[in-house]
Amino acid sequence: MANLHGKDKAKHVVRLFRRIANSYDLLNTLMSGGRHRDWRKQAIQMFNLSKNGIAIDVATGTGDFSIEISQFTNVEKVFGVDFAKEMVALAQKKSLNLKTNNKIFYIEADASFLPFKNSIFQYATIGFGIRNFYDLSKGLSEVRRVLKENGELIILEIVRHEKNIFSKIFFRCFDLVAPILGYVFARDRGAYKYLTKSAEMFFTAEELSSFLKDQGFNIVSKKSIAFGNVSILLCSKK
Ligand SMILES: C[S@@+](CC[C@H](N)C(=O)[O-])C[C@H]1O[C@@H](n2cnc3c(N)ncnc32)[C@H](O)[C@@H]1O
Repeated sequence: MANLHGKDKAKHVVRLFRRIANSYDLLNTLMSGGRHRDWRKQAIQMFNLSKNGIAIDVATGTGDFSIEISQFTNVEKVFGVDFAKEMVALAQKKSLNLKTNNKIFYIEADASFLPFKNSIFQYATIGFGIRNFYDLSKGLSEVRRVLKENGELIILEIVRHEKNIFSKIFFRCFDLVAPILGYVFARDRGAYKYLTKSAEMFFTAEELSSFLKDQGFNIVSKKSIAFGNVSILLCSKK
């Protein structure tokens, strides 16, 4: 399943996230040892947030990155985009409860066809989303298209780390534990098996940087966290 491509992958991924939406936040917390919110905070702090502008959070899921970036006064509006209806509904509910000043607008849409004009966003975020894209080049070219010339993109993603023993241990544990947690809390072992496999088959940090460069982005800075298993990349348009 983890080696699906194109339309088959799109169908599989959207169904999977629609199914696990209700347990997504809890499992994120359990699997990251409670760290995932802090990782997003660290990521947002890498932006040069001195410019006024609007932000897009692609593959927003339950909205954590949208909520995080909406806290900054220079960020005038945030559009959180995701193609899984149930994730979008949960993001909406969460933002309402947190009173995010009505700055966030959630939209059910596909990253490969963003419903926005060219060059309008100053900031873009993608958190744990790109490895799930069914067409990574198209998704990134869409993000590039809607970003302003001096706009910036933050990518937060799990990466492979071939030579690091901690990474090997992490992936081994992730592989064993995630499907069990998925079964216990979401009654869905298969979904979490897929998510761990998709991480194991994804890029290393170096491969991800060079892929982004090929897609028309400069890597402004990068940070490695969680023993090298998670990368944060700040990118600008080439
Ligand atoms: C692992 S979740 C990440 C959610 C959130 N960004 C976070 O940081 O927790 C991945 C999300 O990407 C969304 N997604 C994957 N491919 C997508 C696409 N082509 N278009 C829109 N959303 C997509 C899924 O529906 C899911 O909600």
